[in-house]
Amino acid sequence: MSDETTRRGFLRAGIAGGAALTAGAAAAAGVPDPLITEVQPWASEFGDPVDAVPYGMPIRFESHVVRRNVDWLTESPVSSINFTPIHALEGTITPQGCAFERHHSGAIELSKTDYRLMINGLVDRPLVFTWADLERFPRTVMTAFCECAANGGMEWGGAQLEGCQFTQGMIHNMEYTGIPLRLLLQEAGVKPEGKWIYVEGADASSNGRSIPLDKAMDDVLVAMFANGEALRKEHGYPVRLVVPGWEGNMWVKWLRRVGVYHTAVESREETSKYTDLMADGTARKWTWVMDAKSVITAPSPQNPVRHGPGPLVITGLAWSGHGRIARVDVSTDGGMNWRTARLSGDVKPKALTRFHLDIDWDGQEMLLMSRAIDETGYVQPTKDQLRAIRGLNNVYHNNAIQTWWLKSDGEVENVEVV
Ligand code: MTE
Ligand code: CO
Repeated sequence: MSDETTRRGFLRAGIAGGAALTAGAAAAAGVPDPLITEVQPWASEFGDPVDAVPYGMPIRFESHVVRRNVDWLTESPVSSINFTPIHALEGTITPQGCAFERHHSGAIELSKTDYRLMINGLVDRPLVFTWADLERFPRTVMTAFCECAANGGMEWGGAQLEGCQFTQGMIHNMEYTGIPLRLLLQEAGVKPEGKWIYVEGADASSNGRSIPLDKAMDDVLVAMFANGEALRKEHGYPVRLVVPGWEGNMWVKWLRRVGVYHTAVESREETSKYTDLMADGTARKWTWVMDAKSVITAPSPQNPVRHGPGPLVITGLAWSGHGRIARVDVSTDGGMNWRTARLSGDVKPKALTRFHLDIDWDGQEMLLMSRAIDETGYVQPTKDQLRAIRGLNNVYHNNAIQTWWLKSDGEVENVEVV
């Protein structure tokens, strides 16, 4: 409420001052603006016919909104990762076309005709489903974020990469339609000794992971659609697992088998990988849930401020694998003072939440930070708080507060406050 009042206050001030929020230099200089006074080609000629583009891509002016790699990060592009351009997106839904990809052995092409899903192990009836079989099961719709456990992994030792696309961009948030895994497991009939499932993909890596049966019976989804359309090849077409709130590695793509077992399999992906190496050399395992986290997406290094002092929109994303985001605080002075941001739109559990804070920028440098608090009361830690517990050997589960240094010329740099 108070933010609203302030905003209206300085909007009025801006209009009275004649410049702050009016369009363009021409208007300010009092010369006619040809975009207003002259008939433009787009107003005097035909545009494209309706059938010019049967399936559309973003307009060419948005061609910078694309996935990007960090060259030195991995040796081979088939076992690699790219990053979502979160600095250039708004709202909460990530379009599939620019949602980060992580493949251990490349993205495979698997048709619906060739698709099979097996449920075996400790079940009454081992089953194999075709795509056509799956289409006849009751479906549900759910929005969820998928965050790679390694998101932010390059920032443990210090501020390194210039842009939230690289520091926090191993995340996407889609609206999935699919079958609750519970229904398929019930169809097979889980034996009382069955306490874990082991899920694997049809790609060469198989990316096998163990999941406790409780989670599998709770909110795990066998997803067939994302953002209203078929899954894209790179996100697991035709079927992937959605494991809400849990690390991205468990979201098996091209899902081919769900085995039911009395214990965890302890596969490569959950022993030598995706465990958290602590300072004393031991490793934490079964760190499945992604703790609360947030980042300011604008202003940010790839999204500097291109206007002078006055109204400035600060915006970002917050999420928690434990449920809903309860509050997001924003600091402009490196964490000394905090203001509560607005949570814009729906706040869904285990999904990205958009926040906005509208400030009156005095044109001075700022140290911008955001801090997420989830419905369990958990508060996103500072980098130092996290390092005190987890040391510096680690790659995974960096959910520390990010600091952006906004300079008076509007440029932004990735820094740490010590
Ligand atoms: N599933 C299979 N079959 N193969 C894989 O390489 N990568 C995992 C997971 N599921 C992977 C997989 C990892 S580490 C992550 S973070 C997510 O998929 C990434 O999903 P995305 O490529 O849709 O972003
Ligand atoms: Co991952």
